[in-house]
Amino acid sequence: MPLVTLKEVLAQAEAGGYAVPAINVHSLEVMPAVLQVAAEERSPIILQFTEGTLKFCGYDNVRVFAGHLARVSPVPVVLHQDHGASYEVAVRAIQAGFSSVMIDASRLPLEENIAATRKVVELAHACGVSVEAELGRVAGQEEEISVSEAEAALTDPAEAARFVAETGVDALAVAVGTAHGFYRWEPKLAHDRIAAIRDAARVPLVLHGGSGVPDEEVQRAIRHGIRKVNVSTEAKWAWAQGLRQSLADQPEEYDPRPILKPVMRAVQDVVRAKIRMVGSGGKA
Ligand code: 13P
Repeated sequence: MPLVTLKEVLAQAEAGGYAVPAINVHSLEVMPAVLQVAAEERSPIILQFTEGTLKFCGYDNVRVFAGHLARVSPVPVVLHQDHGASYEVAVRAIQAGFSSVMIDASRLPLEENIAATRKVVELAHACGVSVEAELGRVAGQEEEISVSEAEAALTDPAEAARFVAETGVDALAVAVGTAHGFYRWEPKLAHDRIAAIRDAARVPLVLHGGSGVPDEEVQRAIRHGIRKVNVSTEAKWAWAQGLRQSLADQPEEYDPRPILKPVMRAVQDVVRAKIRMVGSGGKA
């Protein structure tokens, strides 16, 4: 099937009361590995790429390869640009055939965040592309974006209602107690706040920093309105640990194929667990 938009996939998740995993991809060979699991689990799936990954893999390579993979996929695939820092990044992703972009202007004051987001929404919607934006500040490090604990700020429900009404975004990333990267202590999510944002803003909500959050916490957040769960660190960790283990298990091997097979399996285990945890299995 062709690529689908974030809006379409999250509308179905909203109707069904589940969330869809958004897996950060860092290298091309991971894409078919993730999609294979999504197909086996009959789950819609979001493949997301930061600007850094798109430069590393090549915009055109992602466009051609992901476009092909989505076409032959039996389940809906969203190609999403993660944490775009500017209008130009969104333009480039849309030109590369993405069906969804994120404009992250959360570092700016509210009025400027609204203006920057609205500009991307106008372009993206004219091209049939969905938009996610962020309000509040999620702590931690995600590529070039680094937010200290002092700078982190939870999303305000009333501001969220205004933000969504004035920008027309299709999904809203909220700061509700998660952080990008590894946790130094177990995260506790602000569940009442998630429900209040959902009731005020009436738009599918996105949980960033999904790695390392206990399953029950994520599942409770889904009951309160989270519809997209971002996972990067756990997938990267599985890849790197899988590679270390594979090389240790086959010290004489130098053929990439037997070396990479267990690496892909390690990443697939993470993706399968996330699909089952967020309840998207069997929904496609
Ligand atoms: P983690 O690295 O904590 O999984 O967060 C991923 C994310 O939110 C990407 O935008």
